[in-house]
Order: sequence, then C-alpha cells, then structure tokens
Amino acid sequence: MATVILNEINKYFGEKKNRIHVLTEVNFKAQEGELCLVLGPSGSGKSTFLTIAGGIQTPSSGEVIIEGVKLDNLSKKQRERLRLEKIGFVLQNYSLVPYLRVKEQFELAKRVKREGNLSDDDFKKIINQLGIEDLLDQYPKELSGGQRQRVAIARALYSNPAIIFADEPTAALDSQRVTEVGNLFKDLAHEQNKSVIIVTHDLRLKQYADRVYEIMDGTLKEDN
Ligand SMILES: Nc1ncnc2c1ncn2[C@@H]1O[C@H](COP(=O)(O)OP(=O)(O)OP(=O)(O)O)[C@@H](O)[C@H]1O
Ligand SMILES: [Mg+2]
Repeated sequence: MATVILNEINKYFGEKKNRIHVLTEVNFKAQEGELCLVLGPSGSGKSTFLTIAGGIQTPSSGEVIIEGVKLDNLSKKQRERLRLEKIGFVLQNYSLVPYLRVKEQFELAKRVKREGNLSDDDFKKIINQLGIEDLLDQYPKELSGGQRQRVAIARALYSNPAIIFADEPTAALDSQRVTEVGNLFKDLAHEQNKSVIIVTHDLRLKQYADRVYEIMDGTLKEDN
C-alpha cells in the first residue's frame, strides 16, 4: 500500500523578483515495507521535500496524501493528530529539547502521545542497537553530534510510527554507525512493514534502500 503520495508538488519561497522555485512538479510515492532514499546535493530541496511530505510545511501547489488522506482536507488540528499518530520525524537539526536529559526527551514523547508507543523492552532494544544506553542521564549539549543524531532517531521511533521520515540521519556518523543505522531502518521497513523515507547526500545508505530517487535543483526522479 502507498503510504505517502505527492502529486505535482511545487514550492516557492519569496515574492516577485526574489521568488525562488524550490520544488518543481514533484511526484513521489512511498510504500509500506520499503525503505525509500532520496539522494541529492546541498540546496537541492531535500529538507523542503521531506517537511512537505510529512505535513510540516504546505506546498505552493499540488497535493500530499498520507495513508489515503489528503492533507488539504484536514484542519490544522487534524493534521497534527495525524502526524502524532502515524509519523516519526528525525529532523536535520535533531530538535532535542536543550534543558532535558536524554531519558526525559523520551518521557516527553510519552506525555505527548500516551498510547501505542513501543513497549519498554522494544524501546530498550532500540536504545542498545543505537548504542545510547549510557547517555540517558546526559543533556544534549554534553553529547557529540553523532550521539545527538542517534538520540533523535530513538526519539522518532519511540512512538512506534507507521511512517518514518529522516533528514540526513547519518551525517554525523562514522561508517560503523552508518551500518547499524542503515540496518535498523531497513529492518523497520522489512520486518515491521513500516514505510521509511530518508533524504540524504550520504551514498553509504544506498545499499539499504529498496527504492532510490534523486533530487536535483528541486526536480525529483526515480533512479532505476
Ligand atoms: N523558508 C525558506 N525561505 C526561503 N528559502 C528557503 C527556505 N527554506 C529553504 N529555502 C531554500 O530552498 C532551497 C532548498 O533548501 P533545502 O533546505 O530544502 O535544501 P537541502 O537539499 O535540504 O539542503 P542541505 O543538504 O544543505 O540540507 C535552498 O536554496 C534554500 O535556501
Ligand atoms: Mg536539508
């Protein structure tokens, strides 16, 4: 089943002379059980694409459909609900709360969404797989970039979302960690039937992908 569909998406920023066309007629489809990679250089529109696909930003034209629901037809509140229940985001800036310890970042996620989260055992497995079990009492500023990145991944997975969007989730990781994170995302797709969508310029992730798209100057095409 298609989980995320983008039809003829355009995105502009700015007005008149300053207007820039960041996404051009983008068509995209992600399936459940698949890891989908969108590769592109810096400034090509990856983050814009991902935040539009996940309903964080709205397009200038075109439609986004998530699990059969057109986002246009939802109120702001309904859209937030859908995001909360179905989607896990790993954003490019990690978006950790600076004054909360790592374990409190997860407790906060639990307070925002009380049900349907991972069991303690399953979450512990993810924490171990990501190698962050010894960081639970630390604050984000005490962590390295790679550690923050792995905490952000764990937090996105905590709510057990059906759809996972990740923006450059391996940018700060060494090869060993890339292998672990690549396998983790692949297993989530293949073994738990989740839909995983990753935007990146990191070619090391290509081997884990079921489907690869390339984005260049805001134009997306599937790479066969
Ligand atoms: N809110 C905004 N207002 C104006 N321009 C923007 C805005 N967001 C993005 N852009 C522009 O859109 C283009 C694409 O940006 P985007 O962040 O999507 O690229 P990216 O592929 O994610 O880059 P990177 O790999 O560096 O993260 C860039 O030229 C950027 O300057
Ligand atoms: Mg980006």
